[in-house]
Amino acid sequence: MSVLSESSVRSALSRVQDPEIRKPITELGMVKSIDIADDDSVDIAIYLTTAGCPMRTEITDRVTKAVADVPGAGAIRVELDVMSDEQRTELRKSLRGDSAEPVIPFAQPGSLTRVYAVASGKGGVGKSSITVNVAVALASRGLSVGVLDADIYGHSVPRMLGTDAKPTQVERMIMPPVGHDVKMISIAQFTQGNTPVVWRGPMLHRALQQFLADVFWGDLDILLLDLPPGTGDVAISVAQLIPGAEILVVTTPQQAAAEVAERAGAIALQTRQRIVGVVENMSWMDLPDGTRMDIFGSGGGQAVADRLTKAVGAKVPLLGQIPLEQAVREGGDGGLPIVLGHPDSPAATALREVADKLAVRKRGLAGMSLGIDTTRHL
Ligand SMILES: Nc1ncnc2c1ncn2[C@@H]1O[C@H](COP(=O)(O)OP(=O)(O)OP(=O)(O)O)[C@@H](O)[C@H]1O
Ligand SMILES: [Mg+2]
Repeated sequence: MSVLSESSVRSALSRVQDPEIRKPITELGMVKSIDIADDDSVDIAIYLTTAGCPMRTEITDRVTKAVADVPGAGAIRVELDVMSDEQRTELRKSLRGDSAEPVIPFAQPGSLTRVYAVASGKGGVGKSSITVNVAVALASRGLSVGVLDADIYGHSVPRMLGTDAKPTQVERMIMPPVGHDVKMISIAQFTQGNTPVVWRGPMLHRALQQFLADVFWGDLDILLLDLPPGTGDVAISVAQLIPGAEILVVTTPQQAAAEVAERAGAIALQTRQRIVGVVENMSWMDLPDGTRMDIFGSGGGQAVADRLTKAVGAKVPLLGQIPLEQAVREGGDGGLPIVLGHPDSPAATALREVADKLAVRKRGLAGMSLGIDTTRHL
């Protein structure tokens, strides 16, 4: 006797996740119907959230694969339909609650998401490279990770994460594309080609607010914000929008860069944000003959950490030193971060160590409610 039944098919479908929302399609009201014919062929109808859903092939594949594993299943046909407005509203309510106005989940008391804003004084010191590699390293540990490209003018995160997918929209929620298991949102996804974005402070603030409130991030363990260089409008907006965000300062070993990095860190004093630590990038280059070349000098990272420690009156550690390696740049340009592309290289190892420190650190030290235990055991 065949074990094929509607419930066995449904139970197989409960293991299929929507690629964007990352929840089982059975919980999202996406399974329209299941029909089993006399010859054990299975017809499944699936509701997509939007007609232009870029994930239609992916969803069809996932459904087909899952049902093919059900003992006794014959031919499988998947038909796609699109949710009605009412169904989309229901979905939004089930994901988001009933609130009319979008709120920034990371700014709510009791939010368990750790938010790190990656900042530097000077441009080109490697903020984006570090953000992306740390994000991917954290995601490969099984954490749920998001990256918000807050560099509105100089966005680079989507390229570095290897996807030019556009976000889809369900009602007022924006579904972030995913690259190497990291959810990401960037102004690059909302502009045509390489059009430059010319916005003033208030518009930047509004864009950031939307990225934080209107994007469906789901339950993130960690959100990384890739900031533009300097101590400008965006850094202040971040402080206003997510006061609990902590600053990760990036510098090169160069003294001049270090002084500017220190100023970028010192802004945290004014905004009362916590500085989680300093990462020194481009620390040295290992030459083929085994010698080490300090291209940008040495000591900048430690100097920034020491001076910020003094300035804020709390330990600001040097979290890591990342060597200069061609593979870091190639990984960024090619969309395969070095922690995945060359995981055994010295730079990848150093980047992973930084990620480990950010992952295991306890929350609740500065300005946070200590009433709840927010320590994560990894
Ligand atoms: N450790 C490294 N080894 C080799 N190349 C690196 C390293 N870190 C960064 N790069 C390269 O240096 C350039 C600048 O890095 P990145 O874009 O990450 O800096 P940024 O601080 O985000 O710059 P911006 O201020 O423009 O946003 C990129 O081409 C990147 O690939
Ligand atoms: Mg950058």
